[in-house]
Amino acid sequence: MHQLFRRKPATHDAAPEGELHGGAGLGRHLTLRDLTFFGIAAIIGAGSFSSMGQACASGGPGVVLLFVLCAVACGFTALCYAEFAARVPASGSAYTYAYVSFGELFAWIIGWALLMEYSIGNIYVAFSWSGYFTNLLDAAGLHLPEWLTINHRSAAAAAKALTPGEGLTAWTTAPVIAGVRIILDLPAFAINVLITALCYVGVRESRNASNVMVIIKLLIIALVIGVGIAYVDIDRWTPFLPNGFGGVMAGASAVFFAYIGFDAVSTLAEESRDPQRDLPRGMMLSLVICTVVYILLALVLTGMVPFAQLGVSDPLAEVFALRGVKWMLLLVSIAAVVAMTSVMLVFQLGQPRIWMSMSRDGLLPKPFARIHPRYRTPGFSTLVTGLVVGVPILFTDEAFILDFTSIGTLFAFVLVCGGVLLMPRRERGASGFHLPYINGRWVVPALLLLAVVLVRLGVPGYFGDLFDPAGQHGDQRIPLLVFWAVCTGMAALSFVHRWSLIPVLGLVSCCYLLTGMAASNWKWFGTWLVIGLVCYFAYGYRHSRLARLPRTL
Ligand code: ALA
Repeated sequence: MHQLFRRKPATHDAAPEGELHGGAGLGRHLTLRDLTFFGIAAIIGAGSFSSMGQACASGGPGVVLLFVLCAVACGFTALCYAEFAARVPASGSAYTYAYVSFGELFAWIIGWALLMEYSIGNIYVAFSWSGYFTNLLDAAGLHLPEWLTINHRSAAAAAKALTPGEGLTAWTTAPVIAGVRIILDLPAFAINVLITALCYVGVRESRNASNVMVIIKLLIIALVIGVGIAYVDIDRWTPFLPNGFGGVMAGASAVFFAYIGFDAVSTLAEESRDPQRDLPRGMMLSLVICTVVYILLALVLTGMVPFAQLGVSDPLAEVFALRGVKWMLLLVSIAAVVAMTSVMLVFQLGQPRIWMSMSRDGLLPKPFARIHPRYRTPGFSTLVTGLVVGVPILFTDEAFILDFTSIGTLFAFVLVCGGVLLMPRRERGASGFHLPYINGRWVVPALLLLAVVLVRLGVPGYFGDLFDPAGQHGDQRIPLLVFWAVCTGMAALSFVHRWSLIPVLGLVSCCYLLTGMAASNWKWFGTWLVIGLVCYFAYGYRHSRLARLPRTL
């Protein structure tokens, strides 16, 4: 049984040969600026150009609170990532961190969950990319037929419900070959092929492309904010919470999705020049810059038009269309295409590097760790990633991908914060980033007590309704019960073990965001984890490198 929790050594010297020193042949090209840009490249994308609209429409101006909440959760988590990145400067991100703190089984589960963040997340980004790209083509006078710009499932659903629009048109005009309607999102598929090719040929090429894209998207977003401010009517910010806090939390997965990506920086440990110094800084800097951008964007959007009109898939373009600022539409579409391309690029760089680490550890077959002799990239893993993103693009729709990605990522974040709590504390003066230690012994229980008092005073009947299936919490009731139980457990454990405050707050805030996920997606997530466990026991458990090492590890 304890073999399931066998751990990799955390100290650099004891780590497997070659893993921590780039010995396996990756090129070390990335500086702090590159890593920060990679972070921004991964963060600002489909979340801000697409899914943010739904969140604003359900939460109203109060969605800003959700952006702050997500920034706090991601900020604490980024600090934990940074602590790990300074201790274990190897590719593999949260997967590697879990391996040194929780042991092999949890590491596998995290690696499996991260597959959802990077690969499944990229499916959503590719669909959103396609929407904006098709707009650009239309503006240039090139119209792709509808059956080449929408996925089969969405078209079938639109045809079944007889909903007028692109889906129904695609269904009725699609060619039929051997009884099969040919409907596919060709731009989404094509961008995936291009990105895969770029990642395959080299990280330096990818870095240059990503840096240029980040500059373009930041400039255009600054213009969106600058021009948008002129159209803001502050009266639209009242009422601030038109649908209560429940309406705000309904946007949790959409808003959280917008923040996903800062952690992808940590997959580039073996390609950065000074990972212990630069990874933590790159992650935090990119997160801070994006948080400021998001809060300004949310305020501008909800100030420009009535919030209910924002529930569209291209909210940034919609606000300017509604306010008659036509010249901004083209710029917004260009920024969206560029932004989402950069997200796809970073995610598609991150996924193969996690697989490479898992393969080096013996949990995946050897070809996943193979480095291309000429391009010095994990070539096989890169191609498999292209397939894992590309094939579902043909068969899925974006409807549940968003929640699915957010659950998987939050789950990984919870384990990263928990992992820091389990690591022995480091001496001050050790090289690289150092997570400040604030003794949580009294602070965590005191914060819990304060939260309970404030909620009781602010929301009468809140706690009583937690036990009432017909009460105010609806579907969120069970997740909220679990959340408060976790808080109580964390307070007790912090008291006993004098746990560090920052990871505790990171874990608790990520758990809170998890309560905003729809119940049906939890079932999918559970099924996904079970499939992952079957794969682990069928292959990884027996082939693990630790299984062949002396027990003292
Ligand atoms: N944060 C990334 C995006 O919004 C995933 O596209």
